Amino acid sequence: MAYEHLTFDVAERIATVTLNRPDKLNALSDALMGELGRAIDEARVRPDVGAVLLTGAGRAFGAGADISELAGQSAVQGKARAERGQRVFRRFETSPKPTIAAVNGVALGGGCELAMACHLRIASESAKFGQPEVKLGTVPGYGGTQRLPRLVGKGRALQLLLTGETIDAAEAYRIGLVNRVVPAAQLMDVCRVMLATMLAQGPLALAHCIEAVDRGLDMSLDDAIALEASFFGLLSATADKAEGMRAFLEKRPASFSGA
Ligand code: COA
Repeated sequence: MAYEHLTFDVAERIATVTLNRPDKLNALSDALMGELGRAIDEARVRPDVGAVLLTGAGRAFGAGADISELAGQSAVQGKARAERGQRVFRRFETSPKPTIAAVNGVALGGGCELAMACHLRIASESAKFGQPEVKLGTVPGYGGTQRLPRLVGKGRALQLLLTGETIDAAEAYRIGLVNRVVPAAQLMDVCRVMLATMLAQGPLALAHCIEAVDRGLDMSLDDAIALEASFFGLLSATADKAEGMRAFLEKRPASFSGA
């Protein structure tokens, strides 16, 4: 598939998606958002892809929605734009294949929201995070008001949302917004090693962990653990579960087929 505003490369079962508008700090224009939607769909369906690594070209991860496009939008257009972006980000969040955001620079506004829609966030030491929408007289539109409190708690989320302040990678780690902070030169390698660790596990197990966490967080604990029990039962019928347990008992590494 051809892309103009991002690059899509597959190696060792990892699809690396790189936002590629470096001159505009990878601002999420409508065109880039459209391609991002196509890219995650391509990664989800391709059998040679087992995981997704998302990053930005140049000095930014993503500086947010393209303000030049938002400036003239009507109320109806604004709502439609938010819903379109939310749908794309939800495709990352619900991907049965693990997604990691390699945050190489600023992740502001929609850039931070995109990183939050990925399953994990690994930041370079120079990364910065924030939801500056209040400075523009608006609110986050791509899920930020909901994913941020789920990740860092209500008080910390409201601090970031209401001040519009930018925090550095160390602070993002301290409040639980990112999983790990690494030197810039190691960022992509660290992410690839982490994804390789996941890719060595049973793909059906990964997909069901992701779905249990994603759906369970919005359920009562009783309903959520019932969902977990049904997944636990379901996976008992898979070749992967048989192989995983047999390999343990035979003291050898498991070789999963995803069936
Ligand atoms: N939308 C559109 N263009 C953007 C953008 C955005 N969200 N963020 C950056 N750009 C563009 C700038 O307009 C500039 O383009 P130009 O060279 O044609 O003038 C280019 O990217 C470089 O940005 P610049 O502001 O010159 O870089 P900087 O290092 O001085 O500042 C930021 C970096 C991230 C602090 C600053 O660009 C910024 O505040 N961006 C907006 C962040 C934001 O509010 N995001 C939420 C949007 S809802």
